[in-house]
Amino acid sequence: MNAHIIGTGSFLPAKVVTNFELAEHMDTSDEWIVSRTGIRQRHIAVGETTAGMALEAAKRALEDAGMQPEELEMILLATVSPDHIVPSAACEVQAMLGAKNAVAIELNAACSGFVFGLNTAQAYVRAGIYKKILVVGVETLSKIVDWSDRSTCILFGDGAGAAVLTADENAGIQDFIQFADGTKGEALLCDAKPLRNLFVQNEQKQEHVRMDGQEVFKFAVRRVSESIDQLLERNSLATQEIGCYILHQANARIIQSVVKHLKEDGEKFPMNVERCGNTSGASVPLLLDELNRAGRLKRGEKVIMSGFGGGLTWGSIYMIW
Ligand code: UT7
Repeated sequence: MNAHIIGTGSFLPAKVVTNFELAEHMDTSDEWIVSRTGIRQRHIAVGETTAGMALEAAKRALEDAGMQPEELEMILLATVSPDHIVPSAACEVQAMLGAKNAVAIELNAACSGFVFGLNTAQAYVRAGIYKKILVVGVETLSKIVDWSDRSTCILFGDGAGAAVLTADENAGIQDFIQFADGTKGEALLCDAKPLRNLFVQNEQKQEHVRMDGQEVFKFAVRRVSESIDQLLERNSLATQEIGCYILHQANARIIQSVVKHLKEDGEKFPMNVERCGNTSGASVPLLLDELNRAGRLKRGEKVIMSGFGGGLTWGSIYMIW
């Protein structure tokens, strides 16, 4: 049995912030941002919460799947920007949905979070433990980016995406590959709370995202290409057989480099980074939902998904839609 996506949903905050608007607050320009990243605008939360956005995306995915919340056996929620440390956003979504029969677990793999969530769902389905699983990717990155650092804050956006999976004998996830390299963690970093207690009061922490952009860029192009190559090779697949590649929407130039490496047709790599910016763990399910609702994905079509980001983490999935 494979974990197979039967419904998708997404949610974006109402506030849209263009590059021109950012340029009113910092020394940047639409021209610089578009030429380096492909991003023209992003959605920014001004009242929305991480759990609230996840809930909306989850409801829409359940509706699309024709499934009731009580049927769910597991909720896997990927985020690096929850509203609370405890309870997890996964548990908050479980409560608000009324998914009383589902265990709820949060997963932190930064921008690879949703892809790793799908892989985890696949492992539970393959093991015969659960059949009905909700996977959510959600971020309110606007609260952890450093708005005084123009090289990072212009990249990110907020939003949520979700997928409902059931066990299927044929379609669904066929194979996946996933990696982590903690030795390169400093390339993309955001500290948690500092150590402060009765005995230590002075530890300094930076509770904002810091990034070595060029290092992450090189890592992404190399590792995403490599992981897709490996997945194609071990499943004896030619690129011509793949109908669609759904890649983490970090930067249009990263995606274009992967297209070039694979000698593929750029049309097979849909993007929404222009409109949503980099929404980390939410980017793959946001794009997936857009494509699903637009009828862009055909049942039986072979699809590759890739996530990459902080940790460092990366991975790819081969699925039959
Ligand atoms: O989910 C994974 C998340 N991370 C990524 O996807 C990031 C991958 N990296 C990148 O996308 C690129 O490295 C960036 C878009 C972040 C930066 O592009 P770059 O071509 O690597 O630029 P840079 O950092 O080398 O900076 C070039 C210049 C610098 O000025 P000087 O020193 O040449 O005078 C920066 O100060 O551009 C300047 N700069 C800006 N100028 C206008 C940096 N940020 C901005 C800005 N507007 N927002």
